[in-house]
Amino acid sequence: MTKKILLAFCVALLTFGLVQYAFSFSTGIAGFSGMNGGNSCNNCHHSGVTPEVSIRGPQVVLPGGTQIYNLVISGGQETAGGLNVAVTEGSLLSLSDETKLINGEIAHTAPKTINQEGDVVFSYAWTAPVITGTVTMYGAGNSVNGNGSNSGDAAGLTTLSIVVMELNEKLYLPMIQRD
Ligand code: HEC
Repeated sequence: MTKKILLAFCVALLTFGLVQYAFSFSTGIAGFSGMNGGNSCNNCHHSGVTPEVSIRGPQVVLPGGTQIYNLVISGGQETAGGLNVAVTEGSLLSLSDETKLINGEIAHTAPKTINQEGDVVFSYAWTAPVITGTVTMYGAGNSVNGNGSNSGDAAGLTTLSIVVMELNEKLYLPMIQRD
């Protein structure tokens, strides 16, 4: 009996894993933000020019507060891009149909074309945990050439440290730094 349940569980897990694997390529993929042992889009994507990737947004926030962040992909193929963002704590939120959540991580829904500056910018939000501390946001930005395959592309990784602190601590900090 226990064996049967275990078998059913394994089959379910495998099916779920395979389905996710089959549909998660150009339409978004999680687990490759750099948070999991440095695994990135470059596990599969290759032969492209590596872009500059950065995450921009508030680095000191209140517990439980929600803030907007941008992942910026500059240089690289200067055609289009995709992303994967993960955090050690708090919750990520999708803000438009350009992104979605997979296992609590942000992923693109389709390759996004560069803007007038030649960059690919994805916006999303993050709600801080209710406890104070330092959170790391991991981001992978894949600069792709739009050929519908994993060649001629390259990803860059970045991290952003965010300090979650109470308002009184926040006001006090500049005073400490001035000494
Ligand atoms: C397990 C292998 C694998 C990983 C890891 C992977 N991809 Fe892909 N990706 C593919 C394959 C294969 C294709 C082409 C087929 C398709 O579109 O499904 C692709 C296509 C794409 C495309 C369209 C490329 C183009 O030039 O048209 C984008 C955008 C993309 N992936 C983004 C990402 C991002 C962002 C990551 C990392 C967070 C990532 N991929 C990680 C296998 C992978």
